[in-house]
Amino acid sequence: MKILIVYSSQTGNTKKLAEAAYEALQGPKEIYDIKEAPLPDEYDIVIIGFWFKKGKPDPASLEYLLKIKNKKVFLIATHGAAPDSEHAKRGMEEAKKLVQGCEILGTFNCQGEVSPKIMEKAASKPTPPEWFKDAPLAKGHPDQKDISNLVQKIKQAIL
Ligand SMILES: Cc1cc2nc3c(=O)[nH]c(=O)nc-3n(C[C@H](O)[C@H](O)[C@H](O)COP(=O)(O)O)c2cc1C
Repeated sequence: MKILIVYSSQTGNTKKLAEAAYEALQGPKEIYDIKEAPLPDEYDIVIIGFWFKKGKPDPASLEYLLKIKNKKVFLIATHGAAPDSEHAKRGMEEAKKLVQGCEILGTFNCQGEVSPKIMEKAASKPTPPEWFKDAPLAKGHPDQKDISNLVQKIKQAIL
């Protein structure tokens, strides 16, 4: 069973989780930044990590998710919004819809620290985005606890 791990990450949050997933798994496995990722066709299981932009997976991930067909998939999302918020759930549902014919082995939503520049930009809007109120709590995430929660979930789903 060949595992492909692909992540999209601007500031490192999603990369951190993808690397933890990679370390946690045994057997044939490969990990790629989405910019260099091969097509998923030759793999049995695809783990994809993305960050939220406008309440959805980031643009590179939206494109890649459409290429994952008829696979077993585990989805990892990082975002400023709280993991149990409607915003986080909706974004994950969007991702699930894009992977056609796939079996979803599991999902993991995690807060990811938002860069100061983006916090400033969001704060300056007449109506800040809905995730903005949760974003201060994203500071320091993903942390060790997030990583061990992911590792536990991924091992249960895949081993
Ligand atoms: C341009 C931009 C747009 C963002 N939009 C959202 C959003 O719609 N919802 C949200 O919860 N977080 C949003 N965020 C926060 C990021 O998704 C979050 O910090 C994420 O963990 C970044 O992941 P990375 O470090 O792997 O790049 C946004 C961040 C950026 C830079």
